[in-house]
Amino acid sequence: MNEVMTIERIQTSKELERCPFPIPYGWFMIEESAKLPVGEIRNIQAFDQEWVLFRGESGKVGLSDPFCPHLGAHLGHGGVVDGDNIRCPFHHWEFDADGWCKAIPYAKIMPGLARKRPVLRTLPVEERYGAIFAWYHPDGVDPLFPLPTVPEFEADDRIETRRGQWNIGTAIQEIGENGVDYAHLRFLHGSPIIPEGVAKADDYKFSVDIGDGFITGEHHGPGIQVMRFNKDGVTMVMFSTPLPVDREMTLSRMAFTFRDYAEGSTERGIAEHLYAHSIGAAEGEESAGFESVDLIVWDNKKYRPQPLLCDGDGPILMWREWFAQFYASENAAA
Ligand code: FES
Ligand SMILES: [Fe+2]
Repeated sequence: MNEVMTIERIQTSKELERCPFPIPYGWFMIEESAKLPVGEIRNIQAFDQEWVLFRGESGKVGLSDPFCPHLGAHLGHGGVVDGDNIRCPFHHWEFDADGWCKAIPYAKIMPGLARKRPVLRTLPVEERYGAIFAWYHPDGVDPLFPLPTVPEFEADDRIETRRGQWNIGTAIQEIGENGVDYAHLRFLHGSPIIPEGVAKADDYKFSVDIGDGFITGEHHGPGIQVMRFNKDGVTMVMFSTPLPVDREMTLSRMAFTFRDYAEGSTERGIAEHLYAHSIGAAEGEESAGFESVDLIVWDNKKYRPQPLLCDGDGPILMWREWFAQFYASENAAA
């Protein structure tokens, strides 16, 4: 299962960087839907820049570059929502969620460019499962793959547990590498064994099966991971949506769900145990959750492009090769 990389020498501190990656393209969770009521505006840090998130009166959500194409005022400081448009505080020009200029209150003629195309950069947005997702591509390319469907989040008889939120001081690629680093589960998390894992890369998807079906996970691009924890016919789903804030900071969010089994039933007990296990809080288990152990490693490590791997390591290089497809070439040197 291990891949071989021939290394002549080991790079030292000054030759290494913490996060030598551009921002990858893909779908990313921007905010919980409930945190953006109709008519409101939020300033958001994501993809190594500022953005303005707003919800129009019809419920439509826009995510735009903050700086007005007119004279550069920041739409998120003093701007307001008017209908489905965002209105700049400076001279009251209005823009819709697709970036078209819809009104200039004192102009007789719309500037030529504004008649031909959107003049404010906006990102494609979709709302699903109580969250606002945006498609980011450094070159403005339209979505290249869809958001996943997760039937468990569409069921009526279900329980949804917490949507956690953590700032992690590294890039998504480094966080995701944990999923194929089977050995660290034993030594960092204290699992009694190094579980067997099977990983598969398939276009924009990357799947893992850890412990012979105990944990099955599927990445849909860099920003979305659906993990299922399975035991005795009970499944607990974890929906993990890391957002690149900048090149060295990731806002990690997780939502969990399982069927609303009767209180006190065996199935309910299993589901709750799987949930507790997934966050490293299961009673009677030795293993530690990522909050208490992985964060210390992530916040301080440097990336080794040429790691010294051994035969017991998981498919680290396969993960890196799959992930690299989301670094668009034009942005590669950024
Ligand atoms: S700067 Fe925005 S309307 Fe003038
Ligand atoms: Fe971990």
